[in-house]
Amino acid sequence: MKVLVLGGAGYIGSHTVYELITSGAEVVIIDSLETGHIKAVHPQAKFYKGDIRDRAFLDSVFEKEKGIDAAIHFAAYSLVGESMTNPLKYYENNMYGTMVLLQAMTAHGIDKIVFSSTAATYGEPERVPILETDKTFPTNTYGETKLSMEKMFKWTANATGLRYVSLRYFNACGAHTNGLIGEDHNPESHLIPIILQVPNGKRDSISVFGTDYDTPDGTCIRDYIHVLDLASAHILAAEYLMKGGESNIFNLGNGVGHSVKQVIETAEEATGLAIKTVYGDRRAGDPAVLIASSEKAKSVLGWKPKHDDLEEIISTAWNWHKNHPNGFEDK
Ligand code: UFG
Repeated sequence: MKVLVLGGAGYIGSHTVYELITSGAEVVIIDSLETGHIKAVHPQAKFYKGDIRDRAFLDSVFEKEKGIDAAIHFAAYSLVGESMTNPLKYYENNMYGTMVLLQAMTAHGIDKIVFSSTAATYGEPERVPILETDKTFPTNTYGETKLSMEKMFKWTANATGLRYVSLRYFNACGAHTNGLIGEDHNPESHLIPIILQVPNGKRDSISVFGTDYDTPDGTCIRDYIHVLDLASAHILAAEYLMKGGESNIFNLGNGVGHSVKQVIETAEEATGLAIKTVYGDRRAGDPAVLIASSEKAKSVLGWKPKHDDLEEIISTAWNWHKNHPNGFEDK
C-alpha cells in the first residue's frame, strides 16, 4: 500500500507513519513543518516540505508520486483556545487547505482519504458514552472547522468516486514505545505533557482548571487514548477503504473516563515523583465529561486498543519527556 500522509511530521501523524512503515507500507509525507518537526519524520518515508494550500506544490508531488492508494490527512491547526481568538486562521488552513487538497486529489485520481477529526465536533454531549450518531454542536471554532471538513468530504464523496473515513479522536496522549518520537507542541496546552513538565523541572506546578464540575471529584473527565492505538486505527481505516468499505465515521477512545485529579495521581505513580498541584478556575468551554463509545470502530474496523491502561500510557509519555525535555530540539 502506498500512502500519502499530510501532516506526517506532527504528533499523531508521525506515530502513524512509524506504524505504517512497520506494517510494510510505502509512505510519502507532506508537511509544512509549521508545527511539525523534521526530526519526527521517519527516515524511510519520502518527505516533501510544503503547504496543502499550495495547489501547484500538491500537483508537483502528485506528478512525481504515482500510484498513491490512499491519503491520511492530519494537516490542520488544533489549538482550541487559539481557534476562538483567531477563527479565520482555522477556516483558512483547516477548511481552505482541505478544499485545495481535495481538488488536487480529484484531479490526480486519488479517491480514498482517512481524516483526523475530533470529539470537539460533538460539543457539550447529551450523554456519555458518545455515539457517532449523537448530535454534533461544536462549542469552538476548531471543532466547527473539523465538522465542516467532514461535511466537505461527505458532499465531495456524493459527487465523485471519493470515499473517506473520519476518525473522531478523544484525548490523544502517550508516546511511541521505541522512545524515538513523542508529543512536542509549542505552546503546550495538553494535560499530560503539562503535568510531566513538573517532575521534569520545567514548571513549578500543574493548575487544575475547575474543581466544581458535576463529577465525583469535581474535576473534568476525559477519555485518554494512546497515540499508537490512534495510529493503528488509521491503518485499519486505510485498509478498510482499500477493501471497498463505504465512507464512514468512527469515534476513537478507550470508553473509560479519568478525572484531571486521577490523571495527576497516576502521573505521580508512573514517575515515582510528587507533582505539585494548584486548584484554579474553570477554563472556558470545557465540557464536564467526554467519553467515547468506540464499539463501531471495534466491530467494523476490527480495532483493538492495546495501551488502555492509563499508568502505562503516561509511562510512555514520561519515557519520551524525561529523555527529551525540550522535545525534538534535543538529540
Ligand atoms: N487541564 C487542566 N490543566 C491544564 C491543562 C488541562 O486542568 O493545565 C484540564 C482541562 O481543563 C480538561 C483536561 O485537563 O478538563 C484535558 O485538557 P486538554 O487540553 O489536554 O484536552 P481537551 O479535553 O481540552 O482537548 C482535547 C484535544 C482537543 C480536542 C478535544 C476534544 O486537545 O484538540 O480534546 O474534546 F478538540
